[in-house]
Amino acid sequence: MKKINHKATAVSPANIAFIKFWGKRDPLLNIPFNNSISMNLSNCLTTTTVEFNPNFLDDSVSVDGKEVLDSKKDRVIRILNLVRKKSKIDLKAKVVSQNNFPQGAGIASSASAFSALALASSRAAGFSLPQKQLSILARRGSGSACRSVIDGFSEWKAGTSDKTSYSIQIAKPDYWGLRDVVVVVDQKEKKVGSTEGHELATSSPYFRPRLKLLPMRIRKLKGAFFNKDFEKFGKIVEEEAVDLHMMAMTSTPPVFYWNEGTMEIIHAVQEWRKSGLNVFFTIDAGPNVHIICLQKDIDKIDNEVKKLKNVLFTIENKPGKGARLADKHLF
Ligand code: DP6
Repeated sequence: MKKINHKATAVSPANIAFIKFWGKRDPLLNIPFNNSISMNLSNCLTTTTVEFNPNFLDDSVSVDGKEVLDSKKDRVIRILNLVRKKSKIDLKAKVVSQNNFPQGAGIASSASAFSALALASSRAAGFSLPQKQLSILARRGSGSACRSVIDGFSEWKAGTSDKTSYSIQIAKPDYWGLRDVVVVVDQKEKKVGSTEGHELATSSPYFRPRLKLLPMRIRKLKGAFFNKDFEKFGKIVEEEAVDLHMMAMTSTPPVFYWNEGTMEIIHAVQEWRKSGLNVFFTIDAGPNVHIICLQKDIDKIDNEVKKLKNVLFTIENKPGKGARLADKHLF
């Protein structure tokens, strides 16, 4: 048997997608239909410690102090099994995970969770996986997790197989002073998770048309990004977010992620823009809104957000680092 480290801890960020992943070509391997592009969030983090130990009788998983069971646990075990198979170790594992933001509230906790798990479990099994392999392993847990592995801004190349579907860096965290103010209007776990949403995606009549226009949209978004043309960039980001929700609302059965608070923020962003503020929104599979702006406008936006009635709290993010190892274990 290979000599292993036994225990490792990783910290990894959630990410916000500017071009969204919606619909899976292969739901078992989490292979998407389209490339997607995202920024890691500096202040939405998951820390995970994994230990393989001959004394453990079974795998155990806990998140934010609560034991995780059933299908959520199975998803974690799927990653542990991939790592066990690769390392040829046959030991049970203890997984303890902690988020610094609410789970299931549309802040992509699965992305930070599975990228942290991929790094911590592979390291605990004695591997130092190259970034590409780590991205592939994270993807097997949750598609968008493959983007969180990389520092800063990343593009997930959809590929067509397990080996060809992974993320690469398009820019480092300090490339552009973008900010994402996550406006939380609802903290409850959403009724229809993104995994279920992906299954319904192709039933929307707008699924194929969007797929067709995406290569052009991605080219334009990247053009605006590399020219640091915030207005052009923000406009495309908003269009893409609205398209995602249009697909969700027109699938069979339809899924409505937005609530009253979501609409309040959308209208507010439009008003602020009219009054000269450079600000845009995007929304993942949930009701909470990500306000995308530049550092120079952050105080003004904070002030405006405070006046809205449905806001529970906000989380301000810079472009963040990707998954990394940490010295301090959770147990
Ligand atoms: C709307 O990666 O959460 O946030 O692979 O089933 O875990 P699973 O799906 P997930 O889907 C993310 C959907 C999205 C868009 C995005 O982040 O690209």
